[in-house]
Amino acid sequence: MNDMRNDILEVLVSEEELKEKVAQLGRQITEDYQGKKLLLVSILKGSVVFMADLMRAIDMYCQIDFMNVSSYGKGVKTSGTVKIIKDLDIDIRGFDLLIVEDILDSGMTLSYIKKILMEREPNSIRICTLLDKPERRQVPDIKADYVGFEIPDEFVVGYGLDCGEIYRNLPYIGALDPKVYSK
Ligand code: IMP
Ligand code: MG
Repeated sequence: MNDMRNDILEVLVSEEELKEKVAQLGRQITEDYQGKKLLLVSILKGSVVFMADLMRAIDMYCQIDFMNVSSYGKGVKTSGTVKIIKDLDIDIRGFDLLIVEDILDSGMTLSYIKKILMEREPNSIRICTLLDKPERRQVPDIKADYVGFEIPDEFVVGYGLDCGEIYRNLPYIGALDPKVYSK
């Protein structure tokens, strides 16, 4: 059978909890960005599900754009190198950027993205990550301004997050059975 749910050891964040948290983040962002020129920058592909929900929880004028960088490839460990695969479409000068990411792990991806976007002189840059694994941080000065959930050092999938490009369509965040990726 093709039952991806059998590969999940434990549900870490349920659909209900995700919904509630996204609504809360949306309200907070709406409040914080009053009078600003908000641009939501979604980092592909992991953040698309979060982005789609979060943007609808934000109740003000805003624009969206997408960027794709590579860091992990197929495996579960960082390769240490980050490169731009798809750049933003728009000139970000004058915008207040909110980078929307699925998970903050070592911090290398976000510190790189933040650095190159800063050079383009937007008005401001902040980070909103759905998940944060603080124990895994290798870049100490990278911090998210908005965090959905802090989670322990376990490999998780679902709600956009993948392992080898699958599981992104699971509606919750689950811990992946290590048997699946240690094979
Ligand atoms: P960082 O550069 O180590 O912070 O890695 C961030 C990226 O690694 C995320 O955007 C994810 O694509 C990926 N990643 C890190 N931890 C996990 C995980 O537990 N599950 C799925 N992807 C992960
Ligand atoms: Mg990713």
